[in-house]
Amino acid sequence: MTERLCASGDVAEGEVFQVDLGDGRILAVYRLDGEVFATDDLCSHGDASLADGEIENGQIVCPYHMGTFDIRTGEATGAPCSIAIRTYKVTEEDGAIMLVG
Ligand code: FES
Repeated sequence: MTERLCASGDVAEGEVFQVDLGDGRILAVYRLDGEVFATDDLCSHGDASLADGEIENGQIVCPYHMGTFDIRTGEATGAPCSIAIRTYKVTEEDGAIMLVG
């Protein structure tokens, strides 16, 4: 099953875009080297939206305390973050970014 997250054009290369699915799930959608990725938008360290952060070397930098996560794996890679965030399988088809599964 796939579910539409946003238009392809909503997520520029090297950028992150917040998608609120309206059912409690809020995702951060990324484009890195032409590939799309998605994680939970909420930082595992506090009440921060990762979509407000900056991408550096394949990692998202939380805007609150500058902790980092690997965008591809969700692994916490920089203090104070120590708990991984969830990642989601996404694909791109017909001008849209889709959640798979
Ligand atoms: S809330 Fe994200 S690093 Fe603290």
